[in-house]
Amino acid sequence: MTALPEPSSEPSSEPSSAPVDIFDEIDLLRRQRKAVILAHYYQEPEIQDIADFIGDSLQLAKEARDTDADVILFCGVHFMAETAKILNPERIVLIPDMNAGCSLADAAPAKRVRQWKAEHPGSVLISYVNCSAGVKAVSDIICTSSNAVAVVHSIPADRQILFCPDRNLGRWLIQQTGRDMELWQGTCIVHETFSEQKLVKLKVRYPDAKVVAHPECEDNLLRYADFIGSTSQLLKYATTTPDADTFIVGTEPGILHQMEKAAPDRTYLALPGMDETCACNECPYMRLNTLEKIRDALRDLQPRLEMPEDLRLAALAPLNRMMSLG
Ligand code: 13P
Ligand code: SF4
Repeated sequence: MTALPEPSSEPSSEPSSAPVDIFDEIDLLRRQRKAVILAHYYQEPEIQDIADFIGDSLQLAKEARDTDADVILFCGVHFMAETAKILNPERIVLIPDMNAGCSLADAAPAKRVRQWKAEHPGSVLISYVNCSAGVKAVSDIICTSSNAVAVVHSIPADRQILFCPDRNLGRWLIQQTGRDMELWQGTCIVHETFSEQKLVKLKVRYPDAKVVAHPECEDNLLRYADFIGSTSQLLKYATTTPDADTFIVGTEPGILHQMEKAAPDRTYLALPGMDETCACNECPYMRLNTLEKIRDALRDLQPRLEMPEDLRLAALAPLNRMMSLG
């Protein structure tokens, strides 16, 4: 595989007129670097607005795989940018803040997951995409919240399934598919914080509202949901269903920006966390990204995702198995 030529460290051409604000600076650098900006739905609205493409984990991975841009600037968290690098090693992959991690990925160190798999010979390890490249590398197949049900159905009925790292998504998948699975005990610090009490209060106040929720939520929350799905599926349902015009949204509130853009005549209520004193329903990792860091990353071509080729190839195989399911 031939690597693309390294862009010069200085952006090539001088602007014809000085940039007037950070949006112009980013736009200019994006063109000079031949960069594509990918953003997850949990990013700040202003980041979503400058992105070339916004999506859920699966859509962003496909976009990263298929782009012919020289540079992929991934406005999301580390495992997402890492997935982009695994799928498209010829491109420079940048992330605005290298510390943008994920509690689910942190809950599953690759060494322990490898050991867990070794303790279950003959089993199939399905890993949620919210995990490190090291965990992907020891997995048999990857899933995202968009395709997890189809991935579980693709495993022969006589094979034992291990599911890692999200126990809430795993438990929901057991309910959806009827397959028994052994679950790793990781959780998302955002989705486990939603308050049942506050949800009930909102339902009393808005009796006609529909509850939509991400499968990373705890079971006591999901029991109230009228619709459960990935971020893109929640967006589609809340903005197109004819059944309601008010929605209580059980996922990171960054998604409300696209909901309000797509169907502004509807009402979207972000589900609060249990703690009154913090915005705990916002992902602290996603929110590390800022416009200033995006500008600096495009200017400096740093921070950059790199990984050893043997690790990348090992992580690519289970990702490709997922992608081949369509
Ligand atoms: P989606 O794939 O549904 O966008 O989920 C990503 C994520 O991190 C949810 O917390
Ligand atoms: Fe990870 Fe949760 Fe943040 Fe998603 S919302 S990136 S699962 S910590």
